[in-house]
Amino acid sequence: MKSAFRAPSNIALVKYWGKYGVQLPSNPSISFTLDACATETTLELTETPGIRVALDGVDTPSFVPKVAQFVERAATRHPWLKDYGLNVQTHNSFPHSSGIASSASGMSALALCVVDLARQLGHEVADPKQEASILARLGSGSACRSVFGGLVVWGETHSIPGSSQEFGVEYPHPVHDVFRGYRDVVALVDVGQKAVSSTTGHQLMEQHPFRSQRFAQAHDHLASLGPILASGDLEAFMELVELEALTLHGLMMSSSPSYILMRPNTLRIIEAIRGFRRETGTPISFTLDAGANVHILFPEHAEQSALQFVEEQVKPWCKDGRAIADRVGQGPVSLLQ
Ligand code: DP6
Repeated sequence: MKSAFRAPSNIALVKYWGKYGVQLPSNPSISFTLDACATETTLELTETPGIRVALDGVDTPSFVPKVAQFVERAATRHPWLKDYGLNVQTHNSFPHSSGIASSASGMSALALCVVDLARQLGHEVADPKQEASILARLGSGSACRSVFGGLVVWGETHSIPGSSQEFGVEYPHPVHDVFRGYRDVVALVDVGQKAVSSTTGHQLMEQHPFRSQRFAQAHDHLASLGPILASGDLEAFMELVELEALTLHGLMMSSSPSYILMRPNTLRIIEAIRGFRRETGTPISFTLDAGANVHILFPEHAEQSALQFVEEQVKPWCKDGRAIADRVGQGPVSLLQ
């Protein structure tokens, strides 16, 4: 018996940074689900016990502990998982060496397979997408947002009805057309292993001197995004999204111990983006995840000038001149139907 899903990565606009309990977020977050950056995973139930993981067709034992931890947690809701051996075959659309984290797309794809298999085995699942989001969260927090397409909110907050600590929900309010198919070009600055992992970063928020202000700010940012997304106010959108990115890295720089994940070329690219925006009025902005790469965001209508700018003024600062063009996508798809 097997299941297979393709699940995309996502990029947060308001960042999840800090958690407690079993993968519950200290603050609400919202992200764009992407399209091109995705993971394809097949999960097969076998009679031979144990977990086997193959990446791009090659047996990869180093992935087993992460999958085993996910299965341990998922089995609290799906005890039948313990009755089988598991064969996982996985493939990322983005190069392994890109420094793009595969945990959001990977855990989302795996969680969707588990829920599908539960249903094939005849277990009742009241809300399969919600269940997949809960399971994905147990694997990696941000993965719970990749179960849906478009804009997805995770974490309970007053401005988003139906929002939950346990799973992601599709953004429920009106969204202006300018945000449809919004572009994200990922400028690859540093493709190596991160100096400090996200797990450690989340932990450092537990004692962070600015934690309560930060968590309150994230709620405020979610609420202020409402009118911005409805009206298509790109100036306000870019301002808020860049503030979130720099706040995330500001929190890292003001953690104890302090650390810096941006590299000199991260700052060069940020400067270039702000300079180009000032000079040309092109609505181009940036966000950052927990690494040195820069996500360059712009609406579809600005694509021509934005891509020319990336070619001329961003790629020279990228590792081997590499950037990955992506856009907001529709969410995961089953690969077996
Ligand atoms: C900076 O979801 O990777 O990308 O829950 O420990 O797996 P774990 O962390 P992870 O953290 C992502 C943090 C972020 C912001 C975000 O995606 O919201």
